[in-house]
Amino acid sequence: MNFNALIRQIHRWLSILFTLAVILNIVALVLKHQAVWIGLLALFPLILLMISGLYMFVLPYVAKRRGGPGAG
Ligand code: HEM
Repeated sequence: MNFNALIRQIHRWLSILFTLAVILNIVALVLKHQAVWIGLLALFPLILLMISGLYMFVLPYVAKRRGGPGAG
């Protein structure tokens, strides 16, 4: 698996972790058990999602500049 595909896989699985953390946050909210660490549980994967997501976002533009495969 090349590096870009690995980043895509990581982004995929982080999205599941983030979704679970959001559900946990909602449950904590309903049960009135809010705590900072529960909020951070969602924030941490979201930051990693943002970094890996922005990386994937710029990939096609970098490929075009370099004139690689699929470059328009
Ligand atoms: C936080 C900022 C985020 C950015 C900048 C971002 C950006 C991106 C980009 C550029 C792609 C690739 C799209 C393409 O195929 O060209 C992508 C794919 C994807 N994103 Fe995000 N994303 C973010 C957050 C999220 C979140 C919060 C979720 C879900 C909870 C999510 C789930 C996914 C999934 C499932 C894919 C498809 C992965 C695959 O192809 O296997 N992303 N994202």
